[in-house]
Amino acid sequence: MKILVTGGAGFIGSHTCLALLERGHEVIVIDSYVNSNSQSLQRVVELLNSNNLNRSTGIETCSADLRDEKVLDQLFSAHEKLGKSIEAVIHFAGLKSVNDSVHNPLKYWDVNVGSSINLLSVMNRYNCRTIVFSSSATIYGFSNNKPIKENTLIKPINPYGTTKVAIEQLLNDLYNSQPDKWRIANLRYFNPIGAHHSGMLGEAPIGVPSNIFPYITQVAAGVRDEFTIFGNDWPTKDGTGVRDYIHVMDLAEGHVLALEYLVNNQNQIINLNLGTGKGTSVLELLNTFKRVNNINIPLRFSSRREGDCGSVVADNSLAALCLEWTPERSLEQMCIDGWKWQSLNPKGYI
Ligand code: UFG
Repeated sequence: MKILVTGGAGFIGSHTCLALLERGHEVIVIDSYVNSNSQSLQRVVELLNSNNLNRSTGIETCSADLRDEKVLDQLFSAHEKLGKSIEAVIHFAGLKSVNDSVHNPLKYWDVNVGSSINLLSVMNRYNCRTIVFSSSATIYGFSNNKPIKENTLIKPINPYGTTKVAIEQLLNDLYNSQPDKWRIANLRYFNPIGAHHSGMLGEAPIGVPSNIFPYITQVAAGVRDEFTIFGNDWPTKDGTGVRDYIHVMDLAEGHVLALEYLVNNQNQIINLNLGTGKGTSVLELLNTFKRVNNINIPLRFSSRREGDCGSVVADNSLAALCLEWTPERSLEQMCIDGWKWQSLNPKGYI
């Protein structure tokens, strides 16, 4: 299939482009590169070449902001005129910092929701009505430390999460307006970490990372002095926060399967949790990282981070059933691959 990947140069996007190309799909990436680097896509092509898997002509790229509807329209129109229309979209593009969203809600609504409206309008115009949307577990109102099912109460607590819910609602409204036309999957990610096992692709945050894994790898690399654990008084196994960490390649493969599932089944809108179903505490993650990489991580404890919750773990049974998908890579593998990426690319994609 010919697939448009918005935000395809980013962390999850680039790994997904690789998984799509390995599967024989054609990929067009549209990315503004405000939070990513085009190098990631060159690396994807290098990886394909090195595996003799260069079945396609590579990745077509378009450097643009999705809020520019004209560019999007031209992209769809050009492919239609060539007789090879864009058949489906995987929509990653958007801003993703929880903290930034609290201080700049208008920016988040404009970029995340505004660009989604443009994208869906253009898709509708060109009869492209299959979309996999990058949603997040952040939309759930957490409860009872139980694994979270897709029908758990939706109650985001920050503007980033609110924009994800708004886009899901928009997709829902769109589906209901033409249920015989749209095929939609909202993929709700838990905590993606790790990197491609080659060390060629990985997460390259700009500035001080706010997420746990890039912070750990930067402390391990000596870029930062110590790691701070936010709270040791949570009602969890060791008092530190528990999350469901998933290897980014397992997540990427989940996208390919979700797309193929949509195409091969009846029209529908479906919400799927992509996580492993296993809870890991901050201390467990740190200890695993130290053990498998034989490296020390200086650490200290501080109070809880505002807006955090104790435990967030997926019930992934629906995704496992529908997509015939099982996340295969262990926590150890996530730590090994993530450290390889950091060691080989101390400055990210430069
Ligand atoms: N943590 C620390 N120290 C740090 C960073 C994080 O102890 O320096 C802890 C947090 O308190 C939490 C765990 O590590 O217990 C994970 O924190 P992250 O910031 O890495 O991830 P979150 O679960 O808070 O949030 C992430 C993404 C959101 C997404 C959410 C989905 O940042 O965008 O997962 O569950 F929505």
